Amino acid sequence: MAIHTILTYPDPFLKRTAQPVTGFGAALDTLIADMAETMWDEPGIGLAATQIGVDLQLFIYDLEVSRDHSKVQVVCNPRFVLMEGEEIEEEGCLSVPDFTADVKRAARLVVEAQDRHGKPFTADISGLVARVFQHETDHLHGILFIERLSALKRGMFKRRFRKAQMRAEVG
Ligand code: NI
Repeated sequence: MAIHTILTYPDPFLKRTAQPVTGFGAALDTLIADMAETMWDEPGIGLAATQIGVDLQLFIYDLEVSRDHSKVQVVCNPRFVLMEGEEIEEEGCLSVPDFTADVKRAARLVVEAQDRHGKPFTADISGLVARVFQHETDHLHGILFIERLSALKRGMFKRRFRKAQMRAEVG
């Protein structure tokens, strides 16, 4: 198993819409195991394949940071068939280091997706799981959570990012 480098803003790969997962089997299992190790290393509670430069509609999550491969939840080719309500909570992202902000998300979701074996499933979810599904599915469509912020908050992020970049160039 290998820990991969997580791409960070403004890497152009993070803007891509990923390709559907069509091959299930040993290669996908290896990728999933690597993604889990990478996620726990940070640590984070969710990781999309696109964040490590893999062009697939795949994300994993483990809300407890269990470091137990049998507990990793795998979602391939997610599609939201219902989004209901609104909830505002603080979010962060491994691809946007050192920045968090309140993000408005649907409170409840019905999702159709496939598991690691390609088996279709439907999930009716709310709370933190629903937030993770929305955040990670956004990654698969080339959207970072900072793009979900108000223009004011996004401007704050961009100014802060530019300042940090200038410091890095000087120092
Ligand atoms: Ni993220």
